[in-house]
Amino acid sequence: MNSKLRNICVALVVGCTVSYGLILSQATDLPKSNLEFDFIIVGGGTAGNVLGNRLTENKHTSVLVLEAGGSNEDVLNIIVPFFATRATPNTPQDWNYTTAPQTGLAGRSVPYPRGFVLGGSSSVNGMAYTRGSKEDYDRFAHVSGDQGWSWNRLIPYMRKVGLFKTDVHVISAKNTFQNERFSPPTDRNTTERFNPAVHGFNGINTVSLPGFPRGSDTVVIKAASESREFPFNIDTNSGNPLGIGWTQSTIKNGSRSSSATSYLAPQFMSRPNLHIMLNTMATRVVQSGSKNGEPEFQTVEYAARSGGSNSPRFRATAKKELILSTGAIGTPHLLLHSGIGDPQSLTSLGITPVHNLPSVGRNLTDHTLVRISWQVNSTDTFDESERNATVTAEELNRWNITKTGPLVDALTNQIGWQRLPKDSFGNLTDPSAGPYSPHYEFLITNGIVGTPPSTGNYFTISVAVVSPTARGAVTLNSTNPFDPPVIDPNMLGEKVDIFILREAVRKIQQFVSEPAFTGYILAPISINATASDAELDAFIRSNAAPGFHPVSTAAMSARGAKHGVVDPDLTVKGVRGLRVVDASVLPFIPGAHTQAATYTFAERAADLIKASH
Ligand SMILES: Cc1cc2nc3c(=O)[nH]c(=O)nc-3n(C[C@H](O)[C@H](O)[C@H](O)COP(=O)(O)OP(=O)(O)OC[C@H]3O[C@@H](n4cnc5c(N)ncnc54)[C@H](O)[C@@H]3O)c2cc1C
Ligand SMILES: *[C@@H]1O[C@H](CO)[C@@H](O)[C@H](O)[C@H]1NC(C)=O
Ligand SMILES: *[C@@H]1O[C@H](CO)[C@@H](O)[C@H](O)[C@H]1NC(C)=O
Ligand SMILES: *[C@@H]1O[C@H](CO)[C@@H](O)[C@H](O)[C@H]1NC(C)=O
Ligand SMILES: *[C@@H]1O[C@H](CO)[C@@H](O)[C@H](O)[C@H]1NC(C)=O
Ligand SMILES: *[C@@H]1O[C@H](CO)[C@@H](O)[C@H](O)[C@H]1NC(C)=O
Ligand SMILES: *[C@@H]1O[C@H](CO)[C@@H](O)[C@H](O)[C@H]1NC(C)=O
Ligand SMILES: *[C@@H]1O[C@H](CO)[C@@H](O)[C@H](O)[C@H]1NC(C)=O
Ligand SMILES: *[C@@H]1O[C@H](CO)[C@@H](O)[C@H](O)[C@H]1NC(C)=O
Ligand SMILES: *[C@@H]1O[C@H](CO)[C@@H](O)[C@H](O)[C@H]1NC(C)=O
Ligand SMILES: *[C@@H]1O[C@H](CO)[C@@H](O)[C@H](O)[C@H]1NC(C)=O
Repeated sequence: MNSKLRNICVALVVGCTVSYGLILSQATDLPKSNLEFDFIIVGGGTAGNVLGNRLTENKHTSVLVLEAGGSNEDVLNIIVPFFATRATPNTPQDWNYTTAPQTGLAGRSVPYPRGFVLGGSSSVNGMAYTRGSKEDYDRFAHVSGDQGWSWNRLIPYMRKVGLFKTDVHVISAKNTFQNERFSPPTDRNTTERFNPAVHGFNGINTVSLPGFPRGSDTVVIKAASESREFPFNIDTNSGNPLGIGWTQSTIKNGSRSSSATSYLAPQFMSRPNLHIMLNTMATRVVQSGSKNGEPEFQTVEYAARSGGSNSPRFRATAKKELILSTGAIGTPHLLLHSGIGDPQSLTSLGITPVHNLPSVGRNLTDHTLVRISWQVNSTDTFDESERNATVTAEELNRWNITKTGPLVDALTNQIGWQRLPKDSFGNLTDPSAGPYSPHYEFLITNGIVGTPPSTGNYFTISVAVVSPTARGAVTLNSTNPFDPPVIDPNMLGEKVDIFILREAVRKIQQFVSEPAFTGYILAPISINATASDAELDAFIRSNAAPGFHPVSTAAMSARGAKHGVVDPDLTVKGVRGLRVVDASVLPFIPGAHTQAATYTFAERAADLIKASH
């Protein structure tokens, strides 16, 4: 993105020619009439900025991106990778959501951050770049009836080109469309840490390996190399994620790579046909006409975010399509406020139903994780920098001057993806996408995540259930679009979900009992290895947190299906001119953090959109 917000030649949008794309800082900067663009993208987040970039490759196509949050620039906590945990919750870059009380979490309501800034959640997330399993994508293809969503057919969008030369969309994109630009950190030997054959090196979004050694690296890699049950996997992004490997992260030369820093880099922002409007809240989509008996929704109503619910409303209409990229919470929120959803619940709230789609907001799914820590026999952990401001300041100074040192990485240097044994499920059904897909995940960190005790050194594994079956909902609680929706991910709401997490906690104890950990792990500080089912469940329910990977609230389903919100081409069922491109369309949660799938879906969606106009 450009280094300065520019607010020049507002008349551009009604015909004046300038040589730069615009970043407008507020809704009122746009002219009030004759507002027309080929495409309007609502939400300048992870997926939205992919579309903003791809759709303006053709200089005759004009695009407006509306973003409720502000600029991503000069915000230290979202630029410095190690400060990612400070980026949310309850910061100026967060929507500050809290979940409804969660029965599965002993009645607790928990923070539920979402990026409120250009780049969306890619600007505030933990940066882990994890694609998931081949089977995750093949399941998307199966449930949608569109083989285009299968792993093999999506590979070109992830990393490599020219595999399917018969695919007209692939050819039309001239081999420039892959998401990933893998760049090994310059100061580290990355041999045996990733498999170059499964990566792209010419894409837009930089992905890299850890750039600074951590005290626990050697012991973790040694344990994995020696273990049968927790084997080393040189590259967990190959389609078979199982095992423990080095974390790959969306980090470029020691700084966060978000959709804003990558897809909206200066060479793209210089396109005169790309316009970004910040601090602007879409309040509704509005019917703009009809075609072949179906209502057409190409108009968006918006207002200045800062003005709150009394702000004057404006409208803009897309000549070709209106695209919602407001994310798994924002998209159902916006559709429901537009009267698109379940007619009965809309009516009872006082919103006039305009289009019957009962699946809007339903099926919300997320991962659930719990952190387990041990005291360790080492002084080389990051706890000291977390509790000593002098140390942090020294590290920040080093990062600032050289982009080296402990702050160049996110929290996790290794990630593991594991299955429970087939026969352990008893009368429960194995919910994973297939035999090469994980039930649970290890996020391995060289210290306490959060505030460490005033002394001591620690090691933490956050363990998550990544094949959950519980489904929740995003619903409305008022007719005011400025009010937050009610977010109920229904965490650990099904028996099999708590079963997997409980067994996974036991598996961690087994992992840290591998010989490589002897003399390193001193004592558990969270729970005892010998705890009973009931004790473990109580610990989990009172300590677990969401993965912040919500999906499925505007889910893709097969054409003609009774459920679902979008067709396999991501157009909203039963209407014209309206598409959803963001994490809400994923019909199942992948066994992976969700940004890689979101980027990949957005890349293919850009081709689908280009092909249909
Ligand atoms: C704290 C946190 C940590 C995470 N860690 C990881 C991780 O390590 N690895 C990983 O892969 N994934 C991670 N995720 C998840 C991942 O970031 C998301 O799945 C992904 O970014 C979602 O992309 P999206 O395009 O669907 O939505 P977003 O990127 O959230 O984009 C939605 C955009 O729409 C805007 N918007 C919403 N409503 C409106 C409106 N009415 N008008 C205008 N604009 C609006 C928002 O401000 C936002 O910019 C994390 C998420 C969070 C919040
Ligand atoms: C979230 O809270 C912070 C801190 O209070 C605030 O600056 C920010 O504007 C809030 N976000 C939203 C979307 O209101
Ligand atoms: C890098 O590491 C690999 C594997 O450990 C080793 O074989 C190789 O010699 C190393 N290269 C350099 C330049 O150190
Ligand atoms: C939720 O998803 C499941 C699995 O795809 C589907 O069978 C069901 O109909 C969906 N429910 C709703 C309300 O959309
Ligand atoms: C914090 O770190 C500095 C620099 O290493 C050190 O001099 C100081 O003693 C530390 N403070 C505490 C309370 O440990
Ligand atoms: C980084 O260095 C520049 C130039 O010396 C300085 O102006 C800035 O305040 C520093 N930023 C941080 C976060 O230390
Ligand atoms: C990385 O950042 C450092 C410090 O700002 C700079 O000197 C170096 O040129 C950068 N490297 C790349 C590859 O951009
Ligand atoms: C499933 O197994 C559990 C424990 O083995 C048992 O308590 C439960 O009653 C069983 N449920 C059914 C439906 O068989
Ligand atoms: C719903 O709205 C009411 C009134 O504004 C508020 O008191 C309540 O906390 C809201 N409920 C939720 C779950 O947000
Ligand atoms: C701590 O590690 C040292 C070697 O690094 C070892 O000699 C010592 O026995 C360890 N202490 C414990 C309690 O395991
Ligand atoms: C582990 O169990 C022992 C014996 O019941 C108890 O004394 C100790 O406090 C427990 N430790 C933790 C971390 O819960």
